[in-house]
Formats: sequence, structure tokens, C-alpha cells
Amino acid sequence: MQPSRWRLDNQRALVTGASAGIGLAICRELLGLGARVLMVARDAEALEAARAELEEAFPGPEDAALAMPADVTDEEQRAEILDWATDQGGLHILVNNAGGNLTRPAVDYGEDQWRQIFETNLFSAFELCRLAHPLLSKHAASSIVNVGSVSGITHVRTGAPYGMSKAALHQMTRNLAVEWAEDGIRVNAVAPWYIRTRRTSGKLANPDYLDEVLLRTPMGRIGEPEEVAGAVSFLCLPAASYVTGECIAVDGGFLRYGF
Ligand SMILES: NC(=O)c1ccc[n+]([C@@H]2O[C@H](COP(=O)([O-])OP(=O)(O)OC[C@H]3O[C@@H](n4cnc5c(N)ncnc54)[C@H](OP(=O)(O)O)[C@@H]3O)[C@@H](O)[C@H]2O)c1
Repeated sequence: MQPSRWRLDNQRALVTGASAGIGLAICRELLGLGARVLMVARDAEALEAARAELEEAFPGPEDAALAMPADVTDEEQRAEILDWATDQGGLHILVNNAGGNLTRPAVDYGEDQWRQIFETNLFSAFELCRLAHPLLSKHAASSIVNVGSVSGITHVRTGAPYGMSKAALHQMTRNLAVEWAEDGIRVNAVAPWYIRTRRTSGKLANPDYLDEVLLRTPMGRIGEPEEVAGAVSFLCLPAASYVTGECIAVDGGFLRYGF
């Protein structure tokens, strides 16, 4: 029987920021499609709890969900992540999901603060792509998905460095898609608007702010991590084999809403 174009059996995915929110939902979705996942985040305890939760939800091969605590902004730890992936047998999929932010008026950032946002959201992803390239290019077809943001496309109230870093992540996606097409690596991105995670729970707990967000969102609701995971997983599937260099907004229509 032909392998299904809607399955990821026998594929291994490295997902950063995998212990919570969107990253954890991506791991769950990829496991459901038959992939094995290598999960990375900094807090070892939270990461192990997330891994154990997935193991229970998807009883199967012992190595279906493995975890390694690491900080993607650290050069040595990035190299260790890729050594670990190599030891596990290589990679078909890389999802650069780890991200962070600090919201300020532009003039109030210290240089270290805004540079750190770039380290987390952009430089770590570029370096992980470069480190993963030899593993990904071993296969006829492999895939990178970068978790960007609507803030990389238009102004939202995140503070400038976050939007700047996500815009650059989107452009990195386009550049690598073209450069690595001949290596069999598709490179795509997703751009979420407000998604219900621990990052957004504080702001969305303010009823006035929530109302403003909902009025500005054609679908009139906040997105769920699973809805981002669905788009990410589609981009990883053989069914998306001719899609590269794209950025799919997962935003309830936010970016299409002019007035
Ligand atoms: N939620 C939204 O509304 C929204 C909208 C647009 C885009 N996004 C993007 O979606 C991605 C995930 O966001 P989220 O809302 O799911 O966040 P979250 O719930 O706070 O989860 C973030 C994950 O990333 C990990 N992480 C953070 N910094 C890391 C680092 N330096 N090294 C390794 N892991 C790191 C965290 O674990 P540790 O802290 O233990 O490391 C956690 O697993 C981010 O790139 C974010 O910019 C989110």
C-alpha cells in the first residue's frame, strides 16, 4: 500500500518550545499523525511533565516522545540538541516554535532586552535551521516550519522588537525555502494572532482588552493552540509537498480585516 499523504509515519520531528502552549499542541498533533517527536524547552520538570502526558495519550513505541531540556539561545546547547537528534537517528522535520517577548515603548528598551528578543525568536531559529540542514537534506523530502506572528506582518501592540524579529523570521523562511528547495527541504511559516496560551492569559484576563481583541477579530474569538498545530502539521505532511516559502496566517481573519 502507498504511504498516506496525510500521515507522518516513520518521520522524526524536533520541536522547540515543546513543553507548553502551541509547541505542546504541535507535538500532540504530530504524534497523532504517526511522527516521533523530540521535545525541547528550558524548564526540565515542565518538559518532562509534558512528555509524560503525551506518552500516556499516545501509547506506542517507547521513543515516540523524547525530551531534552535546553535553551535554544545558547550556542553550545543548540549543538547538543542536534547531536541528540543525530543519536536518535536524524530528523525529517524541524519546528522552530520557541519564542519570547518583552513589551515596552521602543524608547524604553535596554539594548540587552531587545537583543534578547532577537536571540530567542530569530537567531536561535536560523542557527537551528543551519545545524539541522545536514540531517534534513539526507531525506528526499523534509520540512521546516517556523512559528512567526501576525506582528511580523502588521503593527500589533507587542512592542517593536518582537514584530521586527518575527518579520525577519518570515523572510528567513522565504530565503531558505528558495535556497534549500534543491536539497528537498521545504521551509514554511505560520503567523498566529491571539492564541490561548500562558503567554496571553494575563492580557486576555482583562475584559476590556479581550473585548477590543474580539471586536478586531472577524471570527470573534481567541484561537486555540490546536488550531495553530493543525496548520503547522499540514505544512509538514507529504500532502503539502509543493508548498514552500509560504506563511499561513492562523488569525480568525485578523489580517484581512481592514475596517
Ligand atoms: N500565544 C500567542 O498568542 C502567539 C501569537 C503569535 C505567535 N506566537 C508564537 O508562538 C510561539 C509559542 O508561543 P506560546 O504562546 O505557545 O508560548 P508559551 O505557552 O509561553 O510556551 C513557550 C514555550 O517555549 C519554551 N521556550 C521559551 N524560551 C525558550 C528558549 N530560550 N529555549 C527553549 N525553549 C524555550 C517554553 O518553555 P521554557 O520557558 O521552559 O523554556 C515553552 O515550552 C512563540 O514563538 C510565540 O512568539 C504566539
